Amino acid sequence: MKLSFTFTALAAVASAFPAIDTSNEAAFLKAAKLAARTVKILEAEDAQAAKAAQNVRRSSLPLPQDALGISRAETNCGPTIPCPAFDAEDQYVSIEGEHAYAAPAEDEIRGPCPGLNAAANHGYLPRSGVASIEETVRGMNKLYNMGIDLAAALAAYAIVIDGDLLGGTWSIGGPQQSDPLVPILGNGQGLSYSHNSYEGDSSIGRLDAFTNNGDAHSLSIEKFEAVYAVGGNDTSENGFDQRYTIDKFRSRFEEVQQHSIDTNPYYFTGAFSTVVVVPAAYNFVINFMSNHSEEHPSGYLDGYNFKQFFGVTGTPGSFKWQRGQERIPENWYKRPTISPYNLADVFVDVGIGYLAYPNTLKIGGNTGKVNSFTGVNVEDLTSGVLNAKNLFEGDNFACFAFVLLQQGIPHFLKGPLEDINNATSFLAPFLEPLLGKLTCPELGKFDQSLFNSFPGHKYSPTGPATNY
Ligand code: HEM
Repeated sequence: MKLSFTFTALAAVASAFPAIDTSNEAAFLKAAKLAARTVKILEAEDAQAAKAAQNVRRSSLPLPQDALGISRAETNCGPTIPCPAFDAEDQYVSIEGEHAYAAPAEDEIRGPCPGLNAAANHGYLPRSGVASIEETVRGMNKLYNMGIDLAAALAAYAIVIDGDLLGGTWSIGGPQQSDPLVPILGNGQGLSYSHNSYEGDSSIGRLDAFTNNGDAHSLSIEKFEAVYAVGGNDTSENGFDQRYTIDKFRSRFEEVQQHSIDTNPYYFTGAFSTVVVVPAAYNFVINFMSNHSEEHPSGYLDGYNFKQFFGVTGTPGSFKWQRGQERIPENWYKRPTISPYNLADVFVDVGIGYLAYPNTLKIGGNTGKVNSFTGVNVEDLTSGVLNAKNLFEGDNFACFAFVLLQQGIPHFLKGPLEDINNATSFLAPFLEPLLGKLTCPELGKFDQSLFNSFPGHKYSPTGPATNY
């Protein structure tokens, strides 16, 4: 893994970014050192980093012609690597001792992500709900076999967008209570209030922020009820006969998007969060929450495991969300160590989803009224370089997603240029393992002004420093 970040593969794209200022500035140095140290520790201590880095070329595999067929055939193990055999010792997940379940205490933070909430409730992340990159990588890897490159990139992005850049920590929910506003970036609101930067509309179980007074982190039981039903007709308490697949979730994503268009005048989909994070979260349910067994080495997800991870009890029609009670189910086995789910897999899986369900690739928003969805052409955004046809050729989709991500940083941080440069520099080494390998076209100017007609683009609710 290289520590330096080069924009050579994205030569023209780079001109659209603020230049990286590496002048002698204390905050930058501290942040950069921290980033470099973390990468080094991870490299040195876990050989899997090397493996993950090797795997990145998989993002370049041509995306399939028969995407719907591929989507329907995809197992619960992911797009490219099989989970060929079950190894109970390797895949065992302890929920005892230091990993025993405990509901969050008054001052412990939980947020919009059930995967993170469950991890914190079992001590795979700090129970406080505030984590460093290293803690995130270790915890996500130990509990879910999340690839090191993916966990590090997700955590680094959280630190940059809504965390504490100087302290090197991020919050899985609301603002970090010890340091509620991080002055250098004027941000630090945590995942719960990262609307359009990390959290986005059309989520699997949370309402759109605008339609719920800025709360996009509490589970909507109606929404859960609807997604639960896509797994079958088992209405029993245990739900053992329900079965969830990634294809069913991709199809559900299309329904949820339509619901957002019908109900949310501020619906907006022109951000990295809505183009990548939200659909990726649907895919994470399948790829990380599925249980693995001798009989189902590739994993299966039933109603029981789904409810446990989401902190839901009861039967269809009378489900109850137990706030803060997300759990790792008993006798639950993670994906195998030989098949981590890596950063590249995220893009391949999201890409297959867009090809299989082309209607879900929406870039635009409602214009202040419900049912006013207006799309923005990828062609107009990228000075004519990318279009609906070539967006999924070669590495183009991942290139486009990274540009969206980079473009979002100044918008969300709203700080002086040097803070933004520090943030970009901090993130760089964590994106490099994938970004450095991509072959990206010259995109020229990325025209964000096209989003100005969407009121949802600028909507960013803030929240109280409560634990949920
Ligand atoms: C460092 C790791 C992770 C980060 C930073 C992260 C971040 C997020 C964020 C920002 C959201 C809100 C997205 C939205 O608006 O829909 C989210 C939602 C979600 N995440 Fe995570 N996540 C992580 C790991 C995981 C894991 C390991 C799983 C599965 C085990 C998971 C499952 C989900 C699900 C299912 C949702 C949607 C929840 C809902 O809408 O009800 N995440 N995550």
